[in-house]
Amino acid sequence: MKILVVGSGGREHALCWAIAASPLCEKLLCAPGNAGIAEQAECVDLAADDVDAIVGFAAREAVDLVVVGPEQPLVMGLVDRLTEAGIKAFGPSAGAAELEGSKGFMKDLCAKYGIPTAAYGRFTDVEAAHAFIREHGAPIVVKADGLAAGKGVTVARSLDEALNAAEDALIEEKFGAAGAEIVIEECLEGEEVSVFALCDGTTALPLAAAQDHKAAFDGDQGPNTGGMGAYSPAPAMTDELLAKVMRTIVQPTIDGMAEEGRPYRGVLFAGLMLTADGPKLLEHNVRFGDPECQVLMMRLKSDLVPALVATVDGVLSTFDLRWYEDAALTVVMAAKGYPGRYEKGTVIGGIDAADDADENVTIFHAGTSRAADGKLLANGGRVLNVTALGRNVAEAQARAYRAVDRIDWPQGFCRRDIGWRAVARELA
Ligand code: AMP
Ligand code: GLY
Repeated sequence: MKILVVGSGGREHALCWAIAASPLCEKLLCAPGNAGIAEQAECVDLAADDVDAIVGFAAREAVDLVVVGPEQPLVMGLVDRLTEAGIKAFGPSAGAAELEGSKGFMKDLCAKYGIPTAAYGRFTDVEAAHAFIREHGAPIVVKADGLAAGKGVTVARSLDEALNAAEDALIEEKFGAAGAEIVIEECLEGEEVSVFALCDGTTALPLAAAQDHKAAFDGDQGPNTGGMGAYSPAPAMTDELLAKVMRTIVQPTIDGMAEEGRPYRGVLFAGLMLTADGPKLLEHNVRFGDPECQVLMMRLKSDLVPALVATVDGVLSTFDLRWYEDAALTVVMAAKGYPGRYEKGTVIGGIDAADDADENVTIFHAGTSRAADGKLLANGGRVLNVTALGRNVAEAQARAYRAVDRIDWPQGFCRRDIGWRAVARELA
């Protein structure tokens, strides 16, 4: 098969790495890719959200399967357009991607189909929003309805913070059109976990559980990021809990979406809060998590390509996946300053040595480019995902940090405590 992966982050590098290992893959392309992906795939200089260009390219090249990494092109309808052009594409249609593209849509679906989630209201009017906030009090959560690059959520600890967040979105237009409507919801307490499932419109096949770390600094301090590291398995996600999440949240979502005439095909990423009343849905994402995908791909024993094809073809009910028992852990190396302002174009050294020194280590590139003289350059906020396997999370963690310490990049930083919850559980 000729396969095209769309995207340029660590998630897409991990997908390319897994796809390139498949005997079914004859040629691998990636749009636009990065310097690490270029070692596995032929990179084509097309932006991930340039729907017309990608559809045209895939048709000209007679691509057999397109795998879409990020949410933006999904919400823009890339999969619909590819399907119309007769090209198999992994990922939900625009109608189904609304699950991530509109938080209000997701909440209404939960209300209609009895899926446990935080109590909420939808608002376009700031007076009504303020009245609702005053009525419910703090803590309370204010969310931009649309895609806001992970920045649209305020978990307000005070009334003022919540009132300001509503005003920022509805009056100051801080998130543009994505914040013209907001969702205000009850603040849930508990531990956060994520569940991933391949869905073919009818059947949902759970993947291994993974957990990420959203805060920028050690001890879960500092600003929220796209994710500073992840590990799998997640000890908080027992088999019993997973069965409950599939029964009460994932399957009802798939059934509800089918009922709504928007069958969900692709990977569903459910962000959950484990509350005293059981698991509740925080959000649905319509793609793999980044960096959760990196640890899932390291642990996947089965060939990824048939799983993707079975998802697109609607035959998951007869499908199964096998996983390595080993734990996987990834440490994100980011440019100093991320998630705020950071420098681009700084030189990274020692990557090959760090990768080669331990066969259990794989370094995925999240934001890199290659200078004319061959030097590796940082080209984004999150730059490298140093990923390792181990018999348990503690061993994977030790191996990943040994590799991090071999990398020579003074302008980068990482958290030193990725996996701390799981390691503490293992010690206990
Ligand atoms: P979201 O993008 O909706 O997942 O929100 C980003 C983060 O905000 C989540 O990972 C949670 O840490 C937090 N969050 C979102 N909704 C709630 C809620 N209802 N209660 C508490 N925390 C929340
Ligand atoms: N790591 C969280 C996300 O991909 O949204």
